[in-house]
Amino acid sequence: MPKAKKGGKSRRKLLMVGPDAPFQFVEAYKSLRTNLEFLSASSGCKVILITSSVPEEGKSNVAINLAATLASGGKRVVLVDGDLRKGSLSRYMHLARNRAGISNVVAGQCPLADALVRFKNVQFSLLPAGPLPPNPSEMLALPAVQELFTGLRDYYDFIIVDTPPVSVVTDAAVMCRFADGAILVVRPGVTTIQGAQLSKKNLESVHGRILGVVLNGYDIKRAGHKDGYYYSYSYDYYKHEGDDADGDAGE
Ligand SMILES: Nc1ncnc2c1ncn2[C@@H]1O[C@H](COP(=O)(O)OP(=O)(O)OP(=O)(O)O)[C@@H](O)[C@H]1O
Ligand SMILES: [Mg+2]
Repeated sequence: MPKAKKGGKSRRKLLMVGPDAPFQFVEAYKSLRTNLEFLSASSGCKVILITSSVPEEGKSNVAINLAATLASGGKRVVLVDGDLRKGSLSRYMHLARNRAGISNVVAGQCPLADALVRFKNVQFSLLPAGPLPPNPSEMLALPAVQELFTGLRDYYDFIIVDTPPVSVVTDAAVMCRFADGAILVVRPGVTTIQGAQLSKKNLESVHGRILGVVLNGYDIKRAGHKDGYYYSYSYDYYKHEGDDADGDAGE
C-alpha cells in the first residue's frame, strides 16, 4: 500500500504496458481489449467507466493501460479523468494539476478541443479533470456533461472514463447515465466481498451495465497457480525472478 511522502506528495506509481513491461501484464490487457472490441462491435459499447468499490484498487492504472492498449490496436481513444476529486490522471501523465479540463469545458470557459491533450509516446488523447469543482457530483449531472460526451462519441471509437470509488461517492453512478457500461476493478487484499457487492448494487440501482470485472494485482505465485492460463488472464505487474523489467512510467 503506498504511503504519503513527507509534504503530502503521493508515491503512487503508474505501471505501464510497453516493451519493458512483463509479458503477462501486456497480454492481459490485450485480452481485455479483445473482449471490449467484441462488445463494441456487437452492442456499440463505446463509453466505458472504470470503477471500483474503494480507493487504491488500481482504477486509474487500469484506465490508462486499457486506453493505451486500445489505441495501440489502431482505435481512436480518449481517456477522460472523471475523478474530479483527485484528478489522478494528470499526475500520472505528468500534466500540471490546474490544466484546463472537464470542469472548464462544462463551465463554458474552454472549448473541448482546447482541453484535450495529445501525447507523443502514447496514442490516446486525455481530457483532464481540470480545476477541482466544489461539487463534483452535481457538476457531473449537468446537461453540459452529457453534451461533452455526445461530442466525444462523434469522434472516438472508445471513451475510457476513470472514476472515483463507487461505494464511497456517487460520481460513478451519476456518470452511468451517459455511459454504455462499467468495468469493476477488484484487487486482492484491498477489495472485500461486501465492498464489491455494494458497488454492484450501487451501479445496478441506476441501471448501470456492468461489463465485467478486472482482477488487478493478482499474485499468481501466492495463489499457487503455475498454469500459463492463469498468467494470461491476471493483471499482476510483479516481476518474475531474474526479470529486470521495471516499466514504471509514473512519477
Ligand atoms: N497490478 C498492480 N500491481 C502492483 N501495484 C499496483 C497495481 N495496480 C495498481 N497498483 C498500485 O496501487 C496504487 C493505486 O493505484 P491507482 O491510483 O491506479 O488506484 P485507484 O483505484 O485509481 O485509486 P483512487 O481510488 O484513490 O483513485 C498505485 O501506487 C499503483 O502503482
Ligand atoms: Mg484513481
